[in-house]
Amino acid sequence: MSFPIDRPRRLRRTERFRALVRETRLSADDLVQPYFVVPGEGVKKAIPSMPGQYHLSVDRLEDEAGKAFDAGVPAVILFGLPSYKDEIGSAAWDDEAEVQRAIRALKKQLPDLLVISDVCLCEYTSHGHCGRIAGGDVDNDTTLELLARTAVSHARAGADIVAPSDMMDGRVRAIREALDRNGFSHIAILAYAVKYASAYYGPFRDAAESAPRFGDRRSYQMDPANVLEALREAELDIAEGADMIMVKPGVAYLDVLARVKQTFNRVTAAYQVSGEYSMIQAAAANGWIDRDRVVLETLTGFKRAGADLILTYFAAEFAGRL
Ligand code: PBG
Ligand code: ZN
Repeated sequence: MSFPIDRPRRLRRTERFRALVRETRLSADDLVQPYFVVPGEGVKKAIPSMPGQYHLSVDRLEDEAGKAFDAGVPAVILFGLPSYKDEIGSAAWDDEAEVQRAIRALKKQLPDLLVISDVCLCEYTSHGHCGRIAGGDVDNDTTLELLARTAVSHARAGADIVAPSDMMDGRVRAIREALDRNGFSHIAILAYAVKYASAYYGPFRDAAESAPRFGDRRSYQMDPANVLEALREAELDIAEGADMIMVKPGVAYLDVLARVKQTFNRVTAAYQVSGEYSMIQAAAANGWIDRDRVVLETLTGFKRAGADLILTYFAAEFAGRL
């Protein structure tokens, strides 16, 4: 059938009509708000590269997360800026470090808020790489033990979900085994399974002070040109025990997100990363785009492509409006 029999415009005549036939719906239930935790007390310091986002000390994080939770945000993901860095990133698995203290505080104050911890070493190493350096590159296998220690420390603090973002081969298995050995078989793993070596992480690296001091991350994060490799990465992480898999960044990789979701039918997350956030904020500040519509359109795009959950710096602000 075709025109004049078929007239798609018949179903678009009013908002009520459009809502009746709408295929995708955003829900606050699917949003995860990232936060940057810093040492100190009473700290809420604007992050210049990410207008609207803050460095928060644990006490201020409690306030912000409380507001987000009240607005309907079910989950947060925590990144830490440690008070010390060293060659191997040992602050990452320090039970008294910022993220661990933040997890304990949040689970005490807001037991129903799901706390996800980002498991990586780049914020904690003096060289800014996501693992232990040997021979000028990140050494895969000796890094696994450090990541596993970090995940166990987060679980001990009370994290509901650990999210390895390092892109070492075999880390999901190493973390799963370590969690299970330590009595945390009930703690879920959200694997950054498909993480590209992206320029969109720029604002985050300023915010987290985690830019590599030499070289780049291309020997462990993925080549933006590859999609078959994305399927392979997702397959490996699922086989190693990932409960949920992530594709990151977001908008530039919607095709990858759709393929991963359709291929594996697993709980799949999208991460609208810092560069995507800051680009929207910058264009809006200049009056070039309708910010709220762009945000909702973009988040809808993630869902339409197959995302079950969305990590976005807009979560706390937009949850209340959905
Ligand atoms: C750390 C990590 C990064 C992001 C999440 N975890 C940065 C990186 O890999 O350099 C990026 C998040 C964002 O840009 O919003 N491994
Ligand atoms: Zn890292």
